[in-house]
Amino acid sequence: MQYKEEHFAFGDTQVHGTGGLAYYDDYDEWLKHIRLIKEGDPAGGVRTSTFFSKRLSDGRLIGCIKIHHSLTPQLESGGHIAYGIRPSERGKGYGRQQLQLAIGFARHLPLKEVIIACDKDNAASANTAKSCGGILIKEFEEDGVMKQHYAVRFED
Ligand SMILES: CC(C)(COP(=O)(O)OP(=O)(O)OC[C@H]1O[C@@H](n2cnc3c(N)ncnc32)[C@H](O)[C@@H]1OP(=O)(O)O)[C@@H](O)C(=O)NCCC(=O)NCCS
Repeated sequence: MQYKEEHFAFGDTQVHGTGGLAYYDDYDEWLKHIRLIKEGDPAGGVRTSTFFSKRLSDGRLIGCIKIHHSLTPQLESGGHIAYGIRPSERGKGYGRQQLQLAIGFARHLPLKEVIIACDKDNAASANTAKSCGGILIKEFEEDGVMKQHYAVRFED
């Protein structure tokens, strides 16, 4: 909850990569939701794994990242992976490390590539995707906002 509050105090309206933590006032309720979608979201049928990134030196929660194990037409524009780092820890290389770890997890899924979506004007997100091997494959407009898709391709 402190992690969430830090985002709002900073001016963020979303807590990226958490599977909707912004909409939960109760941690246990959110955890129930995360555990449910890990097995398969009843609404969309897709499995989604959500991870905390914890700093080993002091145990601080640094970031969150979620991975859809597959995509449906409804989920396609948002891609497989969404991520966030708490505001006080941004710009220190954690976003890159976190995404690298998540890509390592995704390599074990039956996927040929993972898609990372970001708003075109979100340079931090785009650079994070690029720093982990993401290649720009698509630009498109959605609800008046220019979006980008970066693909990280896996070798056979
Ligand atoms: C996007 C985000 C996760 C990046 O995490 P981070 O820990 O700040 O990123 P890092 O320090 O690991 O930097 C990763 C790359 O992005 C670049 N970068 C970081 N902050 C940047 C900024 N504000 N503007 C431009 N580039 C930036 C870094 O230089 C680095 O690129 P490099 O490897 O070419 O040098 C973080 O800014 C965040 O949580 N943003 C809000 C949530 C969000 O927008 N999520 C993405 C949408 S799903």
